[in-house]
Amino acid sequence: MTAHEPTVQSLTKEVLATLEGCKDERFRFLMSELIQHLHDYVRKVDLKPEEWMAALQFLTATGQTCDDKRQEFILLSDTLGVSMMVVALAQARASASERAATPATEATVQGPYYWEGAPDRDLGEDIAVGVPGEPAFYAGRVTDTEGRPIANAVLDVWSGDGEGVYDMQIEGPAQMRARGRLRTDAQGRYWFWSIRPSYYPIPMDGPVGSMIERMGRDCNRPGHIHMIVSAEGHVPVTTHLFVADSPYLQTDVVFGVRDSLIVPFEQRPAGTADDGREMPRPYWTAHYDFRLAPSAG
Ligand code: BEZ
Ligand code: FE
Repeated sequence: MTAHEPTVQSLTKEVLATLEGCKDERFRFLMSELIQHLHDYVRKVDLKPEEWMAALQFLTATGQTCDDKRQEFILLSDTLGVSMMVVALAQARASASERAATPATEATVQGPYYWEGAPDRDLGEDIAVGVPGEPAFYAGRVTDTEGRPIANAVLDVWSGDGEGVYDMQIEGPAQMRARGRLRTDAQGRYWFWSIRPSYYPIPMDGPVGSMIERMGRDCNRPGHIHMIVSAEGHVPVTTHLFVADSPYLQTDVVFGVRDSLIVPFEQRPAGTADDGREMPRPYWTAHYDFRLAPSAG
């Protein structure tokens, strides 16, 4: 055998050796572990050429499905549990260095429907005017992990509608709905109106959908509303509130549910709501207090 006749056994070493000149230590580590694990996988499953070609075609189709409204790679990462693993590792790392009275609010996946630049909203505003769904009143506080209120914290909120459809999924020119940025008052309080979000299937008409079907999995997420909560001097948290009696809480297709984020939605009759708004029809209320950890340094 010459030096250029790599074998199943020697090829991995030969590829790893090409990283010797890499000056970026972290990148070298990430790439060498990736190569090692990929080669181990290929050997372990005895990968056939046609299977590898199918995988490459799948990844190509995943890229080709992405556009300014659709992010199939995030969906792939989410449905394989990679996004949630990265979130959980980041949070474990942060809480290991913290000695707080109560932990920060748990984080979960951001998902593909975040849209930067949601409109600023006043406290008490309805962020889902004209959006299909049953009205819901959201209220609570943002505090630090010692329970001290944080004034001027930002809640960047978004959700699908009462039928589980996000604005980005609607055909035609993109128009934001059921989104908004709110700031807490001097006591760290927030309150706003939106709809009670429904469970929904992730987009199933692309390569990730075909993968989910072929794996024999369910494709739904339980009802939830998203938010990124941030404040100066604190670690921001990207999270959801899950509707307590929603279907699919046990089988979220992207593994995002955390018990601490499940919130009872209570039904109220038509009448005067807690913020003084006159509600002509029954509505839901959800209460949740967010906690942010101080940022290091
Ligand atoms: C979402 O909750 O918006 C979402 C998250 C992951 C995949 C699809 C949707
Ligand atoms: Fe969502």
